[in-house]
Amino acid sequence: MNNTQTTAHTNIALIKYWGKKDSQLRLPYNDSLSLTLDGYYTTTSTKFIDQADDQIWLNQKPAPLAFATRVQHFLDYVRQLNHSKQAILVQTDNHVPTAAGLASSASGFAALAGSLNYLFQMHLDLKTLSILARHGSGSATRSIFGGFVRWYHGHDDQSSFAEEIDGADQMPLRIISVVFSDQPKKISSTKGMQQAVSTSPFYRTWPTTVQQDLTAMLQAIKQRDLEQIGLIAQNNALAMHALNWTARPAFSYFTMDTIHLLTSLNELRQKGYLAYATIDAGPNVKVLTSTSDAAFVQQYLYQNYPQATTTFLKPGPGIKKTVL
Ligand code: PMV
Repeated sequence: MNNTQTTAHTNIALIKYWGKKDSQLRLPYNDSLSLTLDGYYTTTSTKFIDQADDQIWLNQKPAPLAFATRVQHFLDYVRQLNHSKQAILVQTDNHVPTAAGLASSASGFAALAGSLNYLFQMHLDLKTLSILARHGSGSATRSIFGGFVRWYHGHDDQSSFAEEIDGADQMPLRIISVVFSDQPKKISSTKGMQQAVSTSPFYRTWPTTVQQDLTAMLQAIKQRDLEQIGLIAQNNALAMHALNWTARPAFSYFTMDTIHLLTSLNELRQKGYLAYATIDAGPNVKVLTSTSDAAFVQQYLYQNYPQATTTFLKPGPGIKKTVL
């Protein structure tokens, strides 16, 4: 049996994906841009088994039903592509601290797609692999690559893929993940997106906002301008969350901690430190900072938010086959 063990890292969107124009194919309304992170990753291996049903293991234990069902749908899709009916054993290890509360579906489905690429000997290139990973989870499209990654929204299955735009090597950008809660979110990202798309009167301006933020972000990355990268990322994240505040009924992933931290970062910036926030579908915050300010910012967060778990992260690599 070929070695199929594959590792993929999580990513954080600096320009967000929020809304699907095709939920079946997971085609987003707009492009998004992310940074792959080094600290958190998923390792997955797959093999054919001589049994009636698939077996899905997560962290050395049979996976919970919701997780297993989602993986099985993905396996069905890949089997259909390969005209196969064989059952598969999936062994996944999430190297995301249990208290991290970071979405593991991005690294999870990227690693699974990578492993199945070897199992079925599909020989997909990275672009096509990103298309395959998209069928498991939207953000997984971007976790195939390292550094700064752009996901082109596309208009059909083949045109919605990701690509590395800059390896982020030598970029003195650091991320501090501030986790207030590891509880599952009350509104899934799929549901939150649907509600924002269909009821927020501001959704019609979202594609223009993204287009402007994306153009500015590409320029800032090219110029290695950390201040601008942080500022644009924070503005874009807040614009995404404003769609939820203006949905009907309105909802929010923020808690008091989230809002308090946003005001603290404002104070840090007034004192001259580089500290901007980006926030996904939950109350936790990723603080964007620089190598020179990271130690101070992390110490500040540690002292002022003792209830939170803070983790120091760097730009991370793309998908890798793990040598056994
Ligand atoms: O791919 P999903 O369903 O986990 O949705 C991701 C949504 C955000 O994390 C909020 C934004 C993004 O672009 O990753």
